[in-house]
Amino acid sequence: MKKALITGITGQDGSYLTEFLLDKGYIVHGIKRRTSLLNTDRIDHIYVDQLINKNNFFLHYGDLSDSLSIFNLMKKIQPDEIYNLAAMSHVKVSFEIPEYTSDIVGLGTLRILEAIRLLGFEQKTKFYQASSSELYGLVQEVPQKESTPFYPRSPYAVSKLYSYWMVVNYREAYHMFACNGILFNHESPRRGETFVTRKISIGVAKIIIGVEDKIVLGNLDAKRDWGHAKDYVEMMWEILQQDSPEDWVISTGKTHSVRDFLKESFKVFEIEIEFQGKGINEVALVKECKNSNYQLEIGKKIVEISKKYFRPTEVELLIGDSSKAKEKIGWEPKVEFKELVKDMVTSDFKNLSKKNNE
Ligand code: NAP
Ligand code: GDD
Repeated sequence: MKKALITGITGQDGSYLTEFLLDKGYIVHGIKRRTSLLNTDRIDHIYVDQLINKNNFFLHYGDLSDSLSIFNLMKKIQPDEIYNLAAMSHVKVSFEIPEYTSDIVGLGTLRILEAIRLLGFEQKTKFYQASSSELYGLVQEVPQKESTPFYPRSPYAVSKLYSYWMVVNYREAYHMFACNGILFNHESPRRGETFVTRKISIGVAKIIIGVEDKIVLGNLDAKRDWGHAKDYVEMMWEILQQDSPEDWVISTGKTHSVRDFLKESFKVFEIEIEFQGKGINEVALVKECKNSNYQLEIGKKIVEISKKYFRPTEVELLIGDSSKAKEKIGWEPKVEFKELVKDMVTSDFKNLSKKNNE
């Protein structure tokens, strides 16, 4: 049985990838950092199922800032595949903690690559790096593909750029099977609650249930190529099953603004919204509510803008071209934008309604 080691196992992607690899018959080891409160919500169901049924799933304490913890775990586990998903992954927060971000997102990757080399695992262990469409930042070409020049726009993106090139360098210098998956934004009901899509899906659910009045957001004009995380973790695995180690863009090829995401989220509940005003004074109001189950007044203000959520340098537009993945691997995303939005808002609506009725 193949052994996989996942860093960032408690995160959105870590949880879906774990499910995917266990289904494929892997033994999955995950690195989890110490937290004062338990934060294993996304993987608790897997842990319990595995304890009862198979016992192919193991969690270990470790941290990407701690070389020895990584080295020792890799020596003990001897993984066939490593998926490096751990990161301080919030772009806005990276402006506030740039040094820590660089340590984890940049040097953390180097620590794993060095451990592979020092343990002599160059020919044994394949390595997947969670690279990001944030590398394209101030985009130099539309759409963005593997050959598009990078122009990172945040401490997070600059740190990911360092990791991207470390992966390329270790591949060339030591002939490791090390690959970058340049993934465009991917979301799900398990998305972190401070990323814009999840902030909207939770906000919309709370407004409809009546426990909150409005959502406060930043730049509504930013455009992203949003896919579903479930579709994307499949490609992480595919990338490591190819004949040669390469770098891959994974995207839907379609872009939507934050404003579109908002409109579509309310639409799921048959509510139409309209925008008024400009810049920081822009608001969104209820224009029409076709569903009599929800008591939303026409003209009610449900979205406001705050400077707080703007970034010192913004990434205005991302749209990927993943034709390489389509042609060479036959990969295409299954979940469309509208379906993704529906999945997220209905999931939050169900969970919050249940909590509210307890
Ligand atoms: P996420 O939900 O924020 O998960 C990040 C994971 O990294 C969590 O398990 C977190 O642990 C862990 N982590 C953070 N700091 C760590 C440290 N010092 N040592 C060990 N683990 C640490 O992110 P995601 O959305 O699943 O994304 C997975 C990876 O893909 C990240 O590297 C992200 O930068 C990258 N990426 C994401 C997207 C996207 O749209 N989702 C697109 C491109 C690339 P805690 O649970 O304890 O915080
Ligand atoms: N988070 C957040 N909160 N973003 C907002 C808000 C808000 O209230 N209002 C508007 N936005 C805009 C941001 O300015 C940005 O342009 C866009 O919404 C998306 O922001 P996020 O959801 O925070 O994601 P991101 O695109 O910055 O970064 C995510 O995707 C990257 C891949 O391109 C993260 O998952 C990164 O880790 C990942 O690499």
